[in-house]
Amino acid sequence: MVQKLEIKGGIPLAGEVSIGGAKNAALPALAASLLTEEEVVIKNLPEVRDVDTMLQLLEYMGVSYERESDSVVRMKAGAPSEDVAPYEMVKKMRASVLVLGPLTARYGEARVSLPGGCAIGVRPINLHLDGLKKLGAEIEIDHGYVQTRCKILKGAEIEFEQVTVTGTENLMMAATLAEGRTLLDNCAIEPEVTDLANMLVKMGAKIDGIGTRRLVIDGVDKLNGIDYEVIPDRIETGTYIVAGLITGGEITVTNCCPKHLEEVLKKMKEANAVLEIGEDYVRVKHSPELKGTNIKTIPYPGFPTDMQAQFMALMTRAQGTSVITENIFENRFMHVAELVRFGADIVIDGHTAVVRGPSKLIGAHVMATDLRASAGLLLAGLAAENTTVVHRVYHLDRGYEKICRKLGGLGARIKRVP
Ligand code: EPU
Repeated sequence: MVQKLEIKGGIPLAGEVSIGGAKNAALPALAASLLTEEEVVIKNLPEVRDVDTMLQLLEYMGVSYERESDSVVRMKAGAPSEDVAPYEMVKKMRASVLVLGPLTARYGEARVSLPGGCAIGVRPINLHLDGLKKLGAEIEIDHGYVQTRCKILKGAEIEFEQVTVTGTENLMMAATLAEGRTLLDNCAIEPEVTDLANMLVKMGAKIDGIGTRRLVIDGVDKLNGIDYEVIPDRIETGTYIVAGLITGGEITVTNCCPKHLEEVLKKMKEANAVLEIGEDYVRVKHSPELKGTNIKTIPYPGFPTDMQAQFMALMTRAQGTSVITENIFENRFMHVAELVRFGADIVIDGHTAVVRGPSKLIGAHVMATDLRASAGLLLAGLAAENTTVVHRVYHLDRGYEKICRKLGGLGARIKRVP
């Protein structure tokens, strides 16, 4: 059933909210189960749609799994499967491409539907494929599928032209089982990439330079099983902090890792947010005098593109001008036209959006276009007078667990309506 979210805004949030596991760390961790015949147990899985999609996809690839609870899954990758995941499944989630590296490395071949474009940009996978070619795989594209084949992958030197998160993850996984040494240069160093590297090392992989742009991976014959716990979701953390700030509330965000959110917290402070930052919590205090602040999205440790829409929503309520530059995805301003429907004053010029605030936001019917854009609209709805209806809520369910329950627990008046 197509669902919408109905929000009665204008209520300052109060209380405590606990953060779940990181979606973008969970997805590669699940894909890594393909690298071993032994049992892999993943804990602190977020209860989000993308995790369900990845598990279904892995089932097509011969992985059997059992969910011990909502946040724990036991998995075992048996013999390679003849089945091919259909386009219908892969198109729902671009992270499907993460099975390519592990499958090719372990079984010598993979066939996966090409993910196609998505709302935030073209998002090619050329860097994943070029890297696999350098490792010795033959790549063929036919009828919208990528087919890889190799006798054995062989270590190689690969420099990414552009920093890519899932590209780094895919090749890192492939290289763990390649023969000899692989050098990966200009790697992504997002916490999710580092988390995956740590997981692979615990599975027996030999990886040096973890947390740097240059990874040195010495291939091993096989990897072992593992019990692994996913890191907290930094984007969910940032989104709830904005929820506290934008409603003029006072909340505590717990079970998080503020260290992974340094640039975002710095920018929030620059915008006059009053925050108490602990080892694993952030307390949002009453912050009545928010001021316009500029941000530019860049790869980690810079300001994350996945927090851009939420920060923009916040800046509509801040005094003065904010210049927001999106450098990662060419089409990640889809929320702007919708924020304007709340009464925000935002003008786009190429990769830059200029927000003039503070605007009084008034509830509206708005359309979600992708996961983080939806989060931006939801936040605006929490701050707006009257009722907001966010259509196409399935985007939010892809990446935010129990969103109504968590926000409801903070006093928000929010419900799903058919
Ligand atoms: N790019 C290429 N060729 C490639 C790969 C990437 O041109 O082969 C370009 C992309 O088009 C983009 C840039 O490189 O302009 C960076 O993209 P990247 O590959 O880093 O993105 P991704 O790995 O597909 C992950 C997250 C995204 C997040 C980006 C950027 C996962 C599963 N997804 O995507 O998360 O926005 O990194 O940090 O980790 C989200 O959670 O809402 C989300 C979109």
